[in-house]
Amino acid sequence: MRRKLAAGNWKMNGTLTRVTEVMALCAAHQTPSVDVLICPPATLIPALATATTDHAVAIGGQDCHAAVSGAHTGDISAHMLADAGATHVIIGHSERRADRGETSADVHAKALAAHTATLTAVICIGETLAQREAGETLDVVGTQLRDSTPDSATGENTVIAYEPVWAIGTGKVPTLEQIGEVHAALRIALTDRFGADGNAFRILYGGSVKASNAAEIFAVPDVDGALVGGASLTAEDFSPIITALENA
Ligand code: PGA
Repeated sequence: MRRKLAAGNWKMNGTLTRVTEVMALCAAHQTPSVDVLICPPATLIPALATATTDHAVAIGGQDCHAAVSGAHTGDISAHMLADAGATHVIIGHSERRADRGETSADVHAKALAAHTATLTAVICIGETLAQREAGETLDVVGTQLRDSTPDSATGENTVIAYEPVWAIGTGKVPTLEQIGEVHAALRIALTDRFGADGNAFRILYGGSVKASNAAEIFAVPDVDGALVGGASLTAEDFSPIITALENA
């Protein structure tokens, strides 16, 4: 049985005042039956990791460098994230693939670094609207999955997040059939490559998940949770999504 995961990606939002939102979330979900993860900006990781020490909310980074240390001004290593109290790191988010030109080979190297630092890598994949309209979705996500995921990946140290680029921050969500088709294809690709352990990987859906659509998305087979952007910023918005996942 895969334990479900509700993950929040705060992106470049939030200052220290937002610690109260996470404490409210902790208070509302003291013994959740699903895993809960918040990935704040790196500046907030130490404060949030400390504040959540005795709570069920895990803290993660949003990216890491592939190297352990060195002359890489502005970058943060997986080892540093772990040292700051993170247990997870998002890798290969489409905003980084698009804005920073990250390739699946880069994502693969970062995932290896995450594993070495004993962080769980949340590897993001997803097609653009043009790729979907051209009928290339399964090819694109299959190739991204293959090339981004290292052989060291297991259901313990790696989570896959399927995030159609055109659904992120747009309010547009694929049909439940479209989500189900991709998640089923990803599951087959994982079991083809990793054998029975392929069934242990959590596959999250991401892109405009909110309280009003969470339950129906979580009812789709092989959707093991969500990676949530905008609706993870406040406890008021994120809490009902966690509850919907618990009830799925
Ligand atoms: P969104 O972002 O929920 O705001 O669409 C999801 C993501 O980018 O992970």
